Amino acid sequence: MMLVLCAYNFVTVLKDKGQSVGCCENIGVSAKVAIVGAGNVGSAAAYAMMMDGVVCEIALIDKNKDRAEGEALDLRHGVQFSSVSKIVFGDSYELVRDAQVVVVTAGVAQKPGESREGLVQTNTQIFSQIIPEIAKHNKSCVLLVVTNPLDVMTYVAWKLSGFPKERVIGTGTVLDTARLRYLIAKEIHVSPKDICAHVLGEHGDSSFPWWSRASIAGVSLDSYAKLSAEFKEQLKEEVRTAAYQVIKKKGATFYAIGLVIAKLVRAMLLNQPRIYSVSTILDDYLGINGVALSVPAVVRASGVTATLQVALDVKEAELFKTSANAVKQGIAAAQAVLDK
Ligand SMILES: NC(=O)c1ccc[n+]([C@@H]2O[C@H](COP(=O)([O-])OP(=O)(O)OC[C@H]3O[C@@H](n4cnc5c(N)ncnc54)[C@H](O)[C@@H]3O)[C@@H](O)[C@H]2O)c1
Repeated sequence: MMLVLCAYNFVTVLKDKGQSVGCCENIGVSAKVAIVGAGNVGSAAAYAMMMDGVVCEIALIDKNKDRAEGEALDLRHGVQFSSVSKIVFGDSYELVRDAQVVVVTAGVAQKPGESREGLVQTNTQIFSQIIPEIAKHNKSCVLLVVTNPLDVMTYVAWKLSGFPKERVIGTGTVLDTARLRYLIAKEIHVSPKDICAHVLGEHGDSSFPWWSRASIAGVSLDSYAKLSAEFKEQLKEEVRTAAYQVIKKKGATFYAIGLVIAKLVRAMLLNQPRIYSVSTILDDYLGINGVALSVPAVVRASGVTATLQVALDVKEAELFKTSANAVKQGIAAAQAVLDK
């Protein structure tokens, strides 16, 4: 029954977008996702999508053709166990054609101890090569940006693509939010699925948990769990430094972000629509204009169709402004690269 409903929704979406409907083993339709950057994150995302059961075709694009081929072959050998029926690879942007979503993970990643902001110059140069190519070959896709510094790169992708802001999304603080929910869940013995707590702002050092409205089944977290201010500060710090910890121990983070990407792709392909704290270009939002930041937003087939106005307390409002200023500085640095 579930599969029939999913297929119905998705066929409707494709018809709305005037696209042809092919065949997929599980849901009777064709859903194609292209991933530009077949490194740790790109390949983990492809694997998570194969397991998630919504995607039918995956294109892996990387300037390192061997890497793309190696990942594609490895994944192809699992086709029998997944919803995916076709995996293509290469360094040509012809491969993004007909994809409903193009995930961008290409770029350099943080080295141990390095901040995300340190990547802005190199990754802006890389985006100047790849984003216009994607836009040239696929004018109707949603761009899902993963490359760091995430919010700055989301802005850069928006500028370089010429797409409407609704169709350029960054994974934002969805991962930070999942990390926060995991840590709260561990403390209060409730599944992370039942905890409604978001991390807002930059996907970076200035992100912050939106504690004042955190809840469980409509009951405020404060009244249910009475977490101390010190403990909340400790959780905030654990979330902020989570990537640094993982990178120090194993060199990169990729499994959890792979799952984040698969869930966002699912919301778009099935036009669900879901609320996620994705990075989106804000206009007239708590006094912020033209900056990509994460706030709870509606994610569906056509991208981000609405942002939810959050009610922040005085301290949170300050933190949000600080985050916006941090991203603004990054955008200025990226703009200087683009203007050269
Ligand atoms: N948003 C998040 O929450 C999040 C989480 C983890 C990692 N990241 C970011 O994702 C990015 C990728 O991380 P990774 O660990 O997969 O790195 P990686 O080095 O394993 O993979 C990056 C890939 O990009 C490719 N690439 C580089 N330049 C290219 C170009 N011009 N055209 C096509 N492909 C190109 C490389 O060949 C490489 O295969 C980094 O910026 C990292 O910081 C973001």
